[in-house]
Amino acid sequence: MKKSIMVTGGAGYIGSHTVVALVEAGYEPVIVDNFSNADHTAIKGLKTILGFDVKLYEGDCTDMAFMRSVFAAEKDIVGVIHFAAFKAVGESVQKPAMYYENNLDSLLTVIKAMGEADVSHFVFSSSCTVYGQPESLPVTEDTPKQPAESPYGATKLMCEQIIEDHCKSGAAFKAVALRYFNPIGAHPSAVIGELPLGVPANLVPFITQTAAGIREQLTVFGNDYDTQDGSCIRDYIHVMDLADAHVKALSYLDEQTNTSFHDVFNVGTGQGNTVLEVVGAFQKVSGVKLNYVIGSRRPGDIEKIYANADKVNTVLKWQAKRSLEEALCDAWAWQEHLGRVKA
Ligand code: WQD
Repeated sequence: MKKSIMVTGGAGYIGSHTVVALVEAGYEPVIVDNFSNADHTAIKGLKTILGFDVKLYEGDCTDMAFMRSVFAAEKDIVGVIHFAAFKAVGESVQKPAMYYENNLDSLLTVIKAMGEADVSHFVFSSSCTVYGQPESLPVTEDTPKQPAESPYGATKLMCEQIIEDHCKSGAAFKAVALRYFNPIGAHPSAVIGELPLGVPANLVPFITQTAAGIREQLTVFGNDYDTQDGSCIRDYIHVMDLADAHVKALSYLDEQTNTSFHDVFNVGTGQGNTVLEVVGAFQKVSGVKLNYVIGSRRPGDIEKIYANADKVNTVLKWQAKRSLEEALCDAWAWQEHLGRVKA
């Protein structure tokens, strides 16, 4: 019997790539998605890559009756990877109540439905945003968390607390929170990737859309930071490496003998790159001269952050394998694929 894993938000960017990694590791993924921030392009792409239709339940993680029905129909589910959440930093500032309601209610509903179905393994999609602007770099899992700069970041902090408290309550629940750094790139097949609805907030999709002529010009938000070229530093991780980290987290949970267990991992490459280095690397791998301008700083941006990846390397036995250039190459191939299919 294959181990079945529920992937909430499995039609989304990181979720869909994790579905591929799960199948390659011998799991049977069950996608749960309300398609509020995804579309069926990802589902079609998954069929192209995998050669079969991944199980899909369209509905909302805040809907308890719906979640109960999925667990009732899929009795082989042994774990849940929870991606389903709103994740746009800027939008969260405009619509905080919507973010708190969706991101907290979905987590609480999933946890409750898991308990009723006796499913105890849980991997949570968290973010390095919980560290704010760290005092020292690189950040470890013991780096103090800081008050969030946005309601989006606040929901990540609150969700981590909810999970930790649930584990401490003695509930039959084994959980790992993965604090992502900056996911970029796409599956090498170029048939799944990041599909921002509307104007991209994140750097790499804005770069590829500018290179594709969809956007007029990229604005680099500030070059007066205290970094090697004045632009901000982030730890950019290939989405397929990030997907592999979720599979490693499930194996790690299998090894835990306590019925209640909780751990946290930074999932980053351990390498920081500036915005201008990313722009330069993109131009090199794509051969496209990018139209960009230096603009003013973006409110809420932190200056620099990158991971100390020792714990995820040693405990989870996971290592980032793909380079920044490879991620940018894959992101560009995905953008070109979109240009062909949307033409
Ligand atoms: C990266 C750098 C920008 C766009 C956020 C969330 C994080 C995660 C990823 C969800 C910054 C600069 C960007 C542009 C630019 N969220 N930039 N011009 O803000 O590090 O992280 O998104 O999964 O939790 O906090 O990512 O890609 O928006 O920005 O210069 O048009 O690129 O200033 O320095 P960020 P980002």
